[in-house]
Amino acid sequence: MIEVEALTKRYGAFTAVRNLSFSVRPGEVLGLVGPNGAGKTSTLRCLSGVIPASAGSIRIAGHDLAADPVAAKRALAFFPDEPRLFEYLTVRQHLAFVARIYGVARYEELARPLLEELELVEKADVLPGELSRGMKQKLVIACGLLHSPSVIFFDEPLTGLDPLGIRRMKDSIMRRARDGASIVLSSHLLHLLEEICTHVLILKKGDKVADGTIAEVAAQFSNGEAGVNLEEVFIRATGGSET
Ligand SMILES: Nc1ncnc2c1ncn2[C@@H]1O[C@H](COP(=O)(O)OP(=O)(O)OP(=O)(O)O)[C@@H](O)[C@H]1O
Ligand SMILES: [Mg+2]
Repeated sequence: MIEVEALTKRYGAFTAVRNLSFSVRPGEVLGLVGPNGAGKTSTLRCLSGVIPASAGSIRIAGHDLAADPVAAKRALAFFPDEPRLFEYLTVRQHLAFVARIYGVARYEELARPLLEELELVEKADVLPGELSRGMKQKLVIACGLLHSPSVIFFDEPLTGLDPLGIRRMKDSIMRRARDGASIVLSSHLLHLLEEICTHVLILKKGDKVADGTIAEVAAQFSNGEAGVNLEEVFIRATGGSET
């Protein structure tokens, strides 16, 4: 469960996210969308405790992120848009290191199926420098999922993956939601979000302009037309092109 109340993020005098409230229940996948600079990454960084919120409250799996950050962070995983790896640790060593930080017992039993799921078995003993971009992304995902988080934040998880990788990633996100995770993902790939997400939240210059199920948001911006897709909703909601 993710509960966000009146989240505001300021950088100096500039407000990147304003008074944002929403919640994501177990099993739900929320698509966070909005034009470049709308505040998606700022929101996800605040929600995962990477940067402090300027105001508001955030609860992760029942734990207040400000009051009990360790318990909140234990329950979550955040996949940033620019993943970082340790240059001198192999794929396998990354998993062992992360397992130790999170106190994951018998991590080998979990690491093996993750490496198989993400097709990294062959690369288990190589350093990040020898991995392709998509493989690096997969390694970051394997590391993040090792502690079985119940709350997962993805910032642009599908960019850089090949078509099969995208399909697997989609399946993996939807499977984790079915298993009871609460998931937020930001992406500009709206046709993919339509397939993955149960809900969508549209940001424009730091303000929420719409949220709800995909059908609810579509209805809000359909002007009575049937079959309005998320791309059209996005353009109408964010004023991308006035027609
Ligand atoms: N560290 C920072 N210092 C000052 N301003 C920042 C900082 N990080 C982001 N911003 C500003 O906050 C606003 C929101 O940025 P953010 O990265 O959250 O947008 P985004 O929705 O993720 O965009 P994109 O689709 O391009 O990834 C932008 O105007 C950006 O310039
Ligand atoms: Mg971003």
